[in-house]
Amino acid sequence: MTKHLIKSQQFTKEHLFNLFNRADELRISPSDSLNGKVLTTLFYEPSTRTRLSFESAMLKMGGQIMGTENAREFSSASKGESLADTIRVIATYSDAIVMRHNKEGSVEKASEVSDVPIINGGDGKGQHPTQALLDTYTIYREIGKLDNIKIAMVGDLASGRTVRSLCYLLGKFSGVKIVFVSPVNLKISQEIKDYLEKHNIEFSEEDDLEKVLPAVDVVYMTRIQKERISQEDYEEAKGKFVINDANLEFISKGAIIMHPLPHVEEIDISIDKEQNDSRVAYFRQAENGLYIRMALLEELLLAN
Ligand code: CP
Repeated sequence: MTKHLIKSQQFTKEHLFNLFNRADELRISPSDSLNGKVLTTLFYEPSTRTRLSFESAMLKMGGQIMGTENAREFSSASKGESLADTIRVIATYSDAIVMRHNKEGSVEKASEVSDVPIINGGDGKGQHPTQALLDTYTIYREIGKLDNIKIAMVGDLASGRTVRSLCYLLGKFSGVKIVFVSPVNLKISQEIKDYLEKHNIEFSEEDDLEKVLPAVDVVYMTRIQKERISQEDYEEAKGKFVINDANLEFISKGAIIMHPLPHVEEIDISIDKEQNDSRVAYFRQAENGLYIRMALLEELLLAN
């Protein structure tokens, strides 16, 4: 049976650590094990990191890439072709497909008609499981553990698929404490709260960011997703929770600031601090995406 990656819940802890170990190896010594393999990147929504890090991972491992960064306009979707037909055809041209789509559930639907692995590169407000892989990999590298961590998740928690996917992965560890900090109109969903309760993960909701900052190992900032909410909701939420040079000082010495990127006004740290304060981890986090995606591609492409 073809193995697809659709959601974070698919991973076990053992599987995660195997990927982390392989990513560490590939960081030091890239392999050309994907020679002769072809990856298609099929993106119906904009991306910088996800698409380009998958493409870079493939190229660095001897494979080849093809695809479109604007499939809504530059694929036959613009002529009315169904997603299922598009996938059936591309699956005959390539060994795996990374897909991002604006509609939640569409990547899973695509996987139902694909004979090659489909990797979810983000589906609407649904999930972004490879982001959660690189996020947990980053926490593990930077903090040294995934059990017993305290993490604040800040920003648009209603639309943010990275937060959802990360919660699903952290739910597999023990002693994790999550503090959700969001504008009142963009709170974390009941579905995620139910999942965390079921997995005995302690969580709370706070609205005073400065009170939360000194108490956590990880500050996970997210952007207000203007493109997924009404103008009214955006105006109400924007600028409510920001990390700047002043409140950066509240964050503990050994803690880190993460962000899936792109960031806009929710990160307002001077360039000097961004470059020299080791707590700013989000560029290292983005780089980690390359190595974890190398490990993932190797696993999916060589197993099928
Ligand atoms: N984190 C992330 O998904 O970034 P891109 O939208 O640039 O791919």
